[in-house]
Amino acid sequence: MTNQADNAGAAIRADAARLLARIVFDGVSLRSAFEARAARNADPRDRALLSATLFSASRWWLRFDSVLSGLLERALPTKAREIHALLVIGLVQIEIMAMPEYAVVAACVDAARLLGQPRHAGLVNAVLRRYLRERGTLLAEADRDAVSRHAHPRWLIERISSDWPRDAEAILAANNCEAALTLRVNRRRSSREDLLERLAAAGIDAEAPAHLADGLVLPESTDVSRLPGFAEGCFSVQDGAAQQVAELLDVANGQRVLDACAAPGGKSAHILERAEVELTALDADGARLPRLRENLGRLGLSANVLHGDASRPPTWWDGKPFDRILLDAPCSASGIIRRQPDIKLHRRAADIAPLAAIQARLAAALWPMLAPGGKLLYATCSIFRAENEAVVVALLDAHADACALPVAERYGRAAGSGRQNLPGNKGMDGFYYALVEKARL
Ligand SMILES: C[S@@+](CC[C@H](N)C(=O)[O-])C[C@H]1O[C@@H](n2cnc3c(N)ncnc32)[C@H](O)[C@@H]1O
Repeated sequence: MTNQADNAGAAIRADAARLLARIVFDGVSLRSAFEARAARNADPRDRALLSATLFSASRWWLRFDSVLSGLLERALPTKAREIHALLVIGLVQIEIMAMPEYAVVAACVDAARLLGQPRHAGLVNAVLRRYLRERGTLLAEADRDAVSRHAHPRWLIERISSDWPRDAEAILAANNCEAALTLRVNRRRSSREDLLERLAAAGIDAEAPAHLADGLVLPESTDVSRLPGFAEGCFSVQDGAAQQVAELLDVANGQRVLDACAAPGGKSAHILERAEVELTALDADGARLPRLRENLGRLGLSANVLHGDASRPPTWWDGKPFDRILLDAPCSASGIIRRQPDIKLHRRAADIAPLAAIQARLAAALWPMLAPGGKLLYATCSIFRAENEAVVVALLDAHADACALPVAERYGRAAGSGRQNLPGNKGMDGFYYALVEKARL
């Protein structure tokens, strides 16, 4: 019995080390690495431990990789990269996940053997045990440099500090926290009160925050497909900051609405839940459209789903103007590092200017499709000024008929013509919103 449990613990750590090595050294995204592997884990507890380990180890890699280098006499060779990942996992499970220390050491030693590296089992044992003896000194040493103190790459610390000097420490700390699981109730299928009751009957004490009309925050992460109401389309998973987008777009029955960057359809669905509109859901990535269709289908909603490039309207537009346009632009995702901690490992400083150029091109291409008196909402899950206010300033400067509408203070900090919710504010992701109206001529 005990042996089986021990073996399972070692096997999960070996799996986690293989996946983490792919995330860190090959640039594979955490989500795709996990989804490809998790399907094979029948036991939900094993899946949950694998997921928690990958998230924590990606989130804290830059801190504990630095701690590890203080524990090794020489750097590990490339062919031992899974052992490298396993050692960081051991440190993170001890220090961040607060798992029983000696059980972690033993399981990691066994995992080294499962990884086909029995020669390294002794090293794993020695390194983790030395960490337990010297952790205070090692962590104090890691605190001396900003990268290992905050577990963020230097360029990102500098960019956050230059864009949000007074908030930088709080943003870096928020980025290292786990985000709450937030649901968006599908008004067409349920009320918040009904879903709250059904969840309570299932032993889940959810909260209905006052600032979200359709949101429910769950006390802990769970497999949502097992919650009451999921199969009936009573709710979706969506952060509160993303839920505010449909609210700001201010849609009304009968309008023609374009969601120009729609996949996988979270905001399209919310728009359709709120009003009877004729929605065009466009995305340039055809591989993301089946998921969008599936999401709308589960929720009982329908849209005109198109595969096309929003910056090239002649290839897909029928020429009829839209009353509302949502540009939820592709961006650095610097506001959702809590949910996608591998962004810290994969994003580069050099990515930001090209993203800003794409965002400006999209905004410029969409503007002529907006009806006079219509509104375009520019939104991103970025916290960088170059991707947010600078893009909107360029749109306003280029079009005499474009006028920024005020966005209420409750949506975040004033940032150019819009508002920025900073990560962690009201428990939500970092998100930018700017609303631009077209003059009636
Ligand atoms: C931030 S995500 C959109 C998330 C989506 N609005 C939701 O709430 O589920 C950005 C999307 O923009 C799409 N995209 C990128 N460039 C595009 C373009 N030129 N035209 C249309 N879609 C584009 C990407 O494929 C991606 O699905």
